[in-house]
Amino acid sequence: MVNKNIQIIAIDGPASSGKGTVAKKLSRQLNYHYLDSGAIYRIIALACIKKNIAIEKNGALSQLIQKLNVCFDGDSSFLENENVTEQIRDERVGKVASYIAQNINLRNSILDYQRSFAKKPGLVAEGRDMATVVFPQANLKIYLDASVNERAERRYKQLILKGIDVNILDLASEIIARDKQDMERQHSPLVKDKDSIVINTDCLDINQTVKKILSFIKN
Ligand code: DC
Repeated sequence: MVNKNIQIIAIDGPASSGKGTVAKKLSRQLNYHYLDSGAIYRIIALACIKKNIAIEKNGALSQLIQKLNVCFDGDSSFLENENVTEQIRDERVGKVASYIAQNINLRNSILDYQRSFAKKPGLVAEGRDMATVVFPQANLKIYLDASVNERAERRYKQLILKGIDVNILDLASEIIARDKQDMERQHSPLVKDKDSIVINTDCLDINQTVKKILSFIKN
């Protein structure tokens, strides 16, 4: 369990709700540590793809994880000493990550690792089950939401900037499918914790969202 003196802000929300950028910015402003739990699922997904490992929903995928050499350094992610920061952001990796995230053995095997990010003075942790499962004792719980249209539009702009040509309607369908898989799975689904403050970011930019979250800390 995590030391009670460590402040924890848990931020959950669906794909492309902006939680990554918001959580990172918030952690910098507060001088807190930062956990992108989705990156852990993404790295494991990438390892499955690279090593051609059968992706199981219920099996002992956790054995693979124990052998993986994973490391996070600031904004960079490493798998077997290779910098995979860009590779794990790929749409296909995200889809596989969402699929393997249904595996309870896998989820349990990375619980302690996620909790090890909680260090003084505090941690901003983002994902799907931060408030409900990984850090139920969090001091502040936020659920970031946005409409499918808004999220598809944000993702579209990000990909176009990267020079990747995509169709916005395809993106919207992928977001709907990912929401369904992440929200309806049996283990640790994305749900609003009873103590979470819901923030809809449809009409808020990153700075406004960070400011709003900060206002809950000061009050
Ligand atoms: O936040 P993200 O898009 O990088 O996450 C990729 C997938 O990983 C997401 O669709 C479901 C899974 N995930 C999870 O099950 N639990 C978390 N705490 C974070 C991510």
